Amino acid sequence: MKTSIRELIVSKIKDGTVIDHIPAGKAFEVLKVLGITGKEGIRIAVVVNVESSKLGRKDIVKIENRFLSKEETDIVALIAPTATINIIKNFEVVEKRKVSIPKYISKLIKCPNKTCITRHEGIETTFETLDSSLRVKCIYCGIELSYTEFIDLILKELSKS
Ligand code: CTP
Ligand code: ZN
Repeated sequence: MKTSIRELIVSKIKDGTVIDHIPAGKAFEVLKVLGITGKEGIRIAVVVNVESSKLGRKDIVKIENRFLSKEETDIVALIAPTATINIIKNFEVVEKRKVSIPKYISKLIKCPNKTCITRHEGIETTFETLDSSLRVKCIYCGIELSYTEFIDLILKELSKS
């Protein structure tokens, strides 16, 4: 196996999750949307703007000793649809999966529609993703947001906590 340039920057990890093929410049947003702040005490490597044959430039995030599930990582698809999730155990890639946009996304944000029932009855929000239009829709009031607006609200919500 040849050593690629990126392994000269950050070494392989023993156990954990590697999020690879992130569009260049998006690594920090990916960490944020996963709710990972760096204060957890786990070791995290962020590699930004490295060469990629598929993407030209890409980012990579390596999170040691955490095995992120499909449910946890699919939200990444809204920011980084090209991302690959690699689960590493004892230095080997034991699972490799593409992220895919979930059909429904629950609990992450309040509905921006002030008259939405979820704002008054203490109901957890659920948004349906409409992949044809790159929008999400509140299943209760029907308000639609673009992926970008939705991600911005998630990041705002997470930065409060
Ligand atoms: N990786 C790591 N530590 C390991 C094994 C792999 O950090 N012990 C990282 C690699 O650096 C790479 C990613 O996990 O960024 C996927 O590893 P691998 O499947 O070996 O690389 P590729 O074949 O290049 O992956 P792909 O086919 O998805 O491009
Ligand atoms: Zn609503």
